Amino acid sequence: METRLRIAIQKSGRLSEKSIELLRNCGIKVQKGSRSLITQSKNFPIDILHLRDDDIPQYVHDGTADLGILGENVLIESGFEVPTVKKLGFAKCRLSLAVPKHVDYSGVNYFEGKKIATTYPVLLKKYLDEKGVSATMHEISGSVEIAPNIGLADGICDIVSTGSTLFSNGLKEVEKVMFSEAVLISNNSLSEEKIEILNKLLFRFDAVMSASQNKYLVMNVPNDKVDEVINILPGMKSPTVVPLATEGWSAIHTVIAEDKFWNIIDGLKERGASGILVVPIQKMIM
Ligand code: PRP
Ligand code: ZN
Repeated sequence: METRLRIAIQKSGRLSEKSIELLRNCGIKVQKGSRSLITQSKNFPIDILHLRDDDIPQYVHDGTADLGILGENVLIESGFEVPTVKKLGFAKCRLSLAVPKHVDYSGVNYFEGKKIATTYPVLLKKYLDEKGVSATMHEISGSVEIAPNIGLADGICDIVSTGSTLFSNGLKEVEKVMFSEAVLISNNSLSEEKIEILNKLLFRFDAVMSASQNKYLVMNVPNDKVDEVINILPGMKSPTVVPLATEGWSAIHTVIAEDKFWNIIDGLKERGASGILVVPIQKMIM
């Protein structure tokens, strides 16, 4: 029988769409909008388990799933010792303490003797212990952000991404407990056949992730400035320089990390670069 990898992803929530998008960008066909617990990819040997994110660590730990995609916050909160194979760079967020916006907040000691609602009691307790604050934790399973408004708690400890949930509930973020992003986790004892499939999958993840962090940069530069421009480019390899039909000008093509682009744009313009194009890259194999 053909070996297939079973990968658990969040069935609905912040990570689910993006997890499917990542697989699709890797050329892996995945059915969407399916109500079933398990779906099979037709063109890559993986099956996808759609689970509540909180259940993913246990499934991967027990080997019911071989791999899982979930937030680091959920993984650590679960307490399961499951190896992280790769940080995936999406669904970045933080676990934060928040209080009603009118509170005159002076520091973490504010929470001394107070009541905090959370779905993250493990992470919160560890944080409070480190800070030497003793508060009452009120563990609830969802809609934490309404707890202060209904008098259930003085503050909350929950995931903040854009901040819009806090804002619309009249709360403000006052302490950051941890930063988190989506990670790929793996069962500890995968067979050799499964590891082979995992490596193929990781190869594709790398290609997609480096593509999304880089841009293809094309511009026209006067010939006497080509060397100077090349000097300020942080490209991964030496850029391509091709003469233009217009006498005295060349086109420079290179790949640049997106976050570096804005640092050099002024320098490029000062050196007479024009027709600057920044183009997305679909896949990048180093
Ligand atoms: C978190 C949190 C908020 C929301 C915050 O839920 O509970 O509801 O995200 O995002 P915002 O700052 O962009 O408004 P999460 O998606 O982690 O899922 P959960 O239901 O599994 O807790
Ligand atoms: Zn959850």
